[in-house]
Amino acid sequence: MAPVDHAPRSSAAREPVSDPADNVAVMIDTLAPAPALRSARLLLTPLTHADADAVHAIFADARTWQHLPSGRHTDVEQTLAMIERSLTSLAEYGCGTWSMRLADDGPDGPVIGVGGVTWSSAGCWNLGYRLASEAWGKGLATEVARAGIVHARRAEPDAPVTARVLSTNPASARVLDHVGLTQVWRGVPRDRTLEVPDVERLVFSDRRLRPETLDGLIALG
Ligand SMILES: CC(C)(COP(=O)(O)OP(=O)(O)OC[C@H]1O[C@@H](n2cnc3c(N)ncnc32)[C@H](O)[C@@H]1OP(=O)(O)O)[C@@H](O)C(=O)NCCC(=O)NCCS
Repeated sequence: MAPVDHAPRSSAAREPVSDPADNVAVMIDTLAPAPALRSARLLLTPLTHADADAVHAIFADARTWQHLPSGRHTDVEQTLAMIERSLTSLAEYGCGTWSMRLADDGPDGPVIGVGGVTWSSAGCWNLGYRLASEAWGKGLATEVARAGIVHARRAEPDAPVTARVLSTNPASARVLDHVGLTQVWRGVPRDRTLEVPDVERLVFSDRRLRPETLDGLIALG
């Protein structure tokens, strides 16, 4: 596999995305820092500070952290730091997390979750999603994951799309199955940062990983 170029991406990497096969159409918002996307049911906009309160409410809700209670955001600063990481990924690599709204609700509708891909320090894409509990069970995580993979492959096709889930989170693993990622590692990270007893970390990828990439993902805990 060709080595991945880790250099920051130019603005060309953020050109509008359109892929009818994946039902991801472009909706250019000239006021937004990067294109908003429409999928079948979702309006996806780059996660920015404008959505901090709504996103914090989701990340502070214990229901969205049943599998890792210690991850719950207890301070809005944690949510702001996550937004910053997403904005950095968007600026440097062309993809960041999206705020999710139902397309029928329009751009002023409530944020129902976040999802998409960000650049991982392991040198690959990281696919993630966290939805308000009211939005679960409708295939919306699968829908945002699919859009994220399309976007990542346009921005950096040589970079694997990966995801990390806990063994106690079968719904998240099922989403990854749906979008074509397969499990490439399962185990307890060496530094045992997972405080939940009897839980293992699962690493998924859309392709075979170079050993150093997998090691980097495992090292994240
Ligand atoms: C995990 C999460 C994103 C799933 O969102 P969602 O919109 O409900 O997901 P989807 O509807 O697209 O797909 C969920 C799949 O998991 C299945 N599922 C749900 N609960 C399950 C369970 N306990 N065991 C096995 N499968 C389960 C669903 O049936 C569905 O599969 P299907 O389409 O084959 O029926 C959502 O529950 C969430 O935000 N949880 C809290 C945050 C989180 O865990 N994020 C992931 C961290 S790695």
